Amino acid sequence: SRTVQRNADGVVTVGGLDVTALAEEFGTPAYFLDEDDFRARCRAWKDAFGPGADVFYAGKAFLSRAIVRWLHEEGLNLDVCSGGELATALAAGMPAERIALHGNNKSTEEITRAVEAGVGRIVLDSFQEIVRVAHIAERLGKRQRVQIRVTVGVEAHTHEFIATAHEDQKFGIALAGGQAAEAVRRALKLDGLELIGIHSHIGSQIFDMAGFEVSARRVVQLLTEVRDEHGIELPEIDLGGGLGIAYTSDDDPREPHEIAVALGDIVGRECAAAGLAVPRLSVEPGRAIVGPTAFTLYEVGTVKELEGLRTYVSVDGGMSDNIRTALYDAEYSVALVSRTSDAEPMLSRVVGKHCESGDIVVRDAFLPADVAPGDLLAVPATGAYCRSMASNYNHSLRPPVVAVRNGVARVIVRRETEEDLLRLDVG
Ligand code: LLP
Repeated sequence: SRTVQRNADGVVTVGGLDVTALAEEFGTPAYFLDEDDFRARCRAWKDAFGPGADVFYAGKAFLSRAIVRWLHEEGLNLDVCSGGELATALAAGMPAERIALHGNNKSTEEITRAVEAGVGRIVLDSFQEIVRVAHIAERLGKRQRVQIRVTVGVEAHTHEFIATAHEDQKFGIALAGGQAAEAVRRALKLDGLELIGIHSHIGSQIFDMAGFEVSARRVVQLLTEVRDEHGIELPEIDLGGGLGIAYTSDDDPREPHEIAVALGDIVGRECAAAGLAVPRLSVEPGRAIVGPTAFTLYEVGTVKELEGLRTYVSVDGGMSDNIRTALYDAEYSVALVSRTSDAEPMLSRVVGKHCESGDIVVRDAFLPADVAPGDLLAVPATGAYCRSMASNYNHSLRPPVVAVRNGVARVIVRRETEEDLLRLDVG
């Protein structure tokens, strides 16, 4: 996201530190995360939505204790979707009332821990879960604040695996056929639940505001039906996350204030038309906050030039630290960062070291023809869904996350070791 700066030797610097020194100190592959950029994005979202709304950072994009502390300090809330994310949030001191619990199949244990801890909201994802959460809360003598997640029937224009508002999928309760209205009816009858609102998340890596507008309109329509049937106005709506970021120069992301204005306008207009008080709005950006703040640094190993085809540039990581290219055909850019080069650009494919041909980090890239073993490559915009989806495939060791701020780099998640792997292997 920031202009690339090089020192006199042509080495790219980050926050005043040069990448060759970083590689030497922390090894490769490694993720380097710009803490100031992360905090600035938190503030941009918070300021854009203002005091009348809440921003929940989606922890699935990337979560660690340092991240939780920064979120806390910047006044953001946190969306978690598993016991592990909840444990991380609580361990790092996020106040429980600022945590929301999500998931289409939360376990009894996860729900119990969340209710006991006093999380601010649980987002109910099915008819069964309405009853499950109510029973657990009643047993604990509590009344749990909940939202109901609805599927609004929008086809978001993104990859099939990350679109979530069409009806034929596992998340939420359909607005269609009166299902969501029935869910509201049931939730309102249960003593263990305080129904505070409706939730809709339409998908991820979205650039077009149209889907959000349809979603907002349909959610307000449901609030209107609830008012007409029950005589109550649910006080909150959450329109989820999903705002796209620039992975390559072709992508043109919306800024938080554009999103805030567009959503605020549509919700305000629809509520005015229906005679509803404007509910408190919340959103759940993950990728848009953390995605652009980090890059992955790799060292080049084998370079294989296939005449008339392309050059395969192998790096010391791959699908174990970035599964997104293999899984979603995601596009990334890449740059030679340990030196400058005047060599001709050559069509290259940056591949990993794993045992399959789909192990691609950057499908098509032009790299200088003299790229050689030992060079360092940086792949930007890997802050979201890279470390958090990393695996130990081929018993590789998951890379560290290093936070850089004011010329100081410090590990916030350390590199795995072979001892870590063997410790789990107790047989
Ligand atoms: N809220 C809910 C309920 C979600 O399911 C998600 C993402 C978010 C918020 C945050 O969405 P974001 O703002 O980060 O797009 N692994 C995929 C993305 C899956 C997202 C799942 N849910 C990827 O690498 O693109």
